[in-house]
Amino acid sequence: MTVPFLSLKDVTALHGAEINEAVSRVINSGWYLQGEENARFERDYADYIGTKHCIGCANGLDALIWIWRAYIELGVMQPGDEVILPANTYIATHLGITENGLIPVCVEPKEETLEIDEDKIEEILVKREEQRVKNGIENRIKAICIVHLYGRCAYTDKIGELCRKYNLKLVEDNAQAHGCVAQVRGKNGEVKTVRTGAIGDAAGHSFYPGKNLGALGDGGAVTTNDDALAAAVRALANYGSQKKYVFKYTGRNSRLDEIQAAVLDVKLKYLDEDNRHRQQVAAYYYDHIDNPLITLPKRLDDANNVYHLFPILVKSPSLQGGDGVGLRNRLHDYLAEHGVGTVIHYPIPPHMQECYKDAAWNRYLPSPLGEGAGERLPITEMLAECELSLPMSPCLMTAQKEYVVRLINEFK
Ligand SMILES: Cc1ncc(COP(=O)(O)O)c(C=O)c1O
Repeated sequence: MTVPFLSLKDVTALHGAEINEAVSRVINSGWYLQGEENARFERDYADYIGTKHCIGCANGLDALIWIWRAYIELGVMQPGDEVILPANTYIATHLGITENGLIPVCVEPKEETLEIDEDKIEEILVKREEQRVKNGIENRIKAICIVHLYGRCAYTDKIGELCRKYNLKLVEDNAQAHGCVAQVRGKNGEVKTVRTGAIGDAAGHSFYPGKNLGALGDGGAVTTNDDALAAAVRALANYGSQKKYVFKYTGRNSRLDEIQAAVLDVKLKYLDEDNRHRQQVAAYYYDHIDNPLITLPKRLDDANNVYHLFPILVKSPSLQGGDGVGLRNRLHDYLAEHGVGTVIHYPIPPHMQECYKDAAWNRYLPSPLGEGAGERLPITEMLAECELSLPMSPCLMTAQKEYVVRLINEFK
């Protein structure tokens, strides 16, 4: 048997007839950009997420770039301001920040959830406040960017409280968690159920083909309730123009095309159903994977996890840190030999990438000055050594998930 990590062909075929019809409709309409398909999808996606605005754009990285850039254009932030973000994420989260001359402040995840650790965020904010009061050092942290990594809700009430207390913007990177839900406690203690993408001040979404809501090419969106931010993002993604041939900002061409918008609007109708299938696959993995070399991340309620990916950690139970990549890579190769595709998310953390090795903000690398001179990110580095993502998709079949589990349980 073969179990591909993800077959996009099968994913598209799930709703193939409707997708084909939507694509043909756009082709035959003769209208390919900034038309009715974008308007419809933006309205439907904003309704689905629960925000006033949705602005389609070229991809998820651009969505993040436009959010930060819009805050700068609106005078809410300035280059040189700092943004707290998880150290363990896809590099696009960092790039959206650094592209705008903002400074990443990397925070470790909690090992059991793999999501950003709110206690460590608090430690940083408290320390900055102390430095401000004692030494008059300006605190330039202006925002927290949470990433709902792997499809798991990263929001916690404490993060919301910290944003209120320190007057920080909360930006969500929702590239991996379309359809996920959070229980959010408001200022007055009331609890609301809110979709990720509508929790913070703004959110970036990616519709890269492999995502839970994936296009047939690149696509992205920003969701927000902030009118001024929405207007700035819409202009920035359209050359900086709000009115034809009049340019308020130096923007770029970063539009979502009509074919992708039409495809996304079809797939949006089935997103919850597709996510339920992912949750059933995940439930099977949680209930049946049983191997001392494998640790599963803490199981969340299904509402709080749409299982974009199913990460496992491969390491000896006695070790606190990683084993080095040996054991994880051995499992990867063994599964591949048996026809099962797996992928590492991600083998090199952003702060260890060559592109950031000389970045002035990067104080997280092993320091030539010796132990303790740099701030280290041991959990993030351990995850890069031990993480492996199992096959996960809305079309994975029963026999396939059973086969994957049997192989994993037999791995020594
Ligand atoms: C967490 C995260 N942020 C941002 C992005 C960027 O999205 P895109 O590939 O559409 O630019 C991705 C996906 O690729 C992602 O996984």
